[in-house]
Amino acid sequence: MENVRESHRQQRKGCTLLLFPLPLQGHINPMLWLANILYSKGFSIIIIHTKFNSPNPSKYPHFTFHSIPDGLLEGEASTADVVDLVTLLNVKCIRSFRDSLVKLLLEVKEEPIACLITDADWYFTQAVADSLKLPRLVLRTSNISFFLVFGALPLLLEKGYIPIKDSQLEEPVVELPPLKVKDLPEIKTRNVEDFYHLVAGLVNESKASSGLIWNSFEDLERDALSKLYQDFPIPIFTIGPFYKYFSGTSSSSLTEDQSCISWLDKKAPNSVIYVSFGSIAEINEAEFLEIAWGLANSNQPFLWVVRPRLVRGSEWIEPLPDGFQERLGGIGHIVKWAPQKEVQAHPAIGGFWTHNGWNSTLESICEGVPMICHPISGDQKVNARYVTDIWRIGLHLEKKLERGEIERAVKRLIVEADGQEMRKRIMSLKEKVEICLKQGGSSYDSLERLTDYILLLQPLRSH
Ligand code: UDX
Repeated sequence: MENVRESHRQQRKGCTLLLFPLPLQGHINPMLWLANILYSKGFSIIIIHTKFNSPNPSKYPHFTFHSIPDGLLEGEASTADVVDLVTLLNVKCIRSFRDSLVKLLLEVKEEPIACLITDADWYFTQAVADSLKLPRLVLRTSNISFFLVFGALPLLLEKGYIPIKDSQLEEPVVELPPLKVKDLPEIKTRNVEDFYHLVAGLVNESKASSGLIWNSFEDLERDALSKLYQDFPIPIFTIGPFYKYFSGTSSSSLTEDQSCISWLDKKAPNSVIYVSFGSIAEINEAEFLEIAWGLANSNQPFLWVVRPRLVRGSEWIEPLPDGFQERLGGIGHIVKWAPQKEVQAHPAIGGFWTHNGWNSTLESICEGVPMICHPISGDQKVNARYVTDIWRIGLHLEKKLERGEIERAVKRLIVEADGQEMRKRIMSLKEKVEICLKQGGSSYDSLERLTDYILLLQPLRSH
């Protein structure tokens, strides 16, 4: 067995993979983690990336970076309307991406290119890869349960669940338990048809690909995975959680404020609520002030990430009343960007108030930190429903943000029995994460299958 493994490792040494992340922080991180995982298995890695939100090559001296023009005009290079941005990128990058693939296929001779791995949102790349006879694998950075909601979009439209009507918000989506109508993705965008088109492209071109890779694990999403096998009869690899393969790796292109850790070092175990809404979400000034007062009134220590321009119309924390931070007397620490994985793993953290982006949700599961869920858009509402109703490892702030509700939610999670039960359940999931990554575990085995599969793709390419 060891001999077979060694011979496969030698084969991988002569093999290059092209990876193309979508240039949004929540998508770049998992793609770069995947790149590191595959590099550790012996493959050479070329990262193709846009100029917009380009990754920092100095953090990855072991990869080759290849920049392509994205054609975005000044006003277009913005995450204010993500559907608009992704739709534009899928049109504007076709030519430059194709040209760069042709060039790379000609140039990279000593280590043949086995396949292309792109984010599922880069749906245009399937046609380009097909035209060059290059197998394309897809990385989907959300979880499987949410992808199935995207897959069900035609049905949701046909049955009238979407567009969402205010009168139906609390009704169940009987075809997709435990979801309610209000959990379905409705993304604010200039033209809703663009959203439907993007989802159709993403789903159909994923189905046409040579395989789907997930930053999730079998034990967490067993039912969704069975359904995925039925609906997507292509090779499927659940090899997550990616970031747990390495200790101390940060792929963040933003500067992480390390003062968080020394601040946490002075706090009691399980006492601090960590608050962060990821890299894209925005809130308004009234919501910002409710959060500030809710946290302050809870009297629990809090570490709060306020990204620059998180609050619409403000640069940073100017809307806070004068002297707010001083009056907290050391119970609150506000930063622009935190080393989130280190923060989550710190013994002082007792809970995470999150927008339920998939990376944040998964990181919370990996570190055994129960959640307060305040989903804002996209996949976040579905993730929050699974956190509260299926895995039962968090509580939902479903109504308009209000300081009294926030204060109660923080206390419930950090000090009350309810929160302790959630902590126990999430600790048992954390143990499952550790098992799935060990030899013989589901993610470990799936990664072995993936690396063997890529080696099978390579001869297809060279004929
Ligand atoms: C986006 C979408 O909004 C999300 O719904 C989707 O699931 C993935 O893409 P984002 O909103 O940024 O992502 O959220 P999330 O998926 O949680 O990713 C944020 C990442 O930034 C996490 O890996 C988190 O650890 C990191 N982060 C966040 C930091 O490193 N520091 C911070 O201060 C905040």
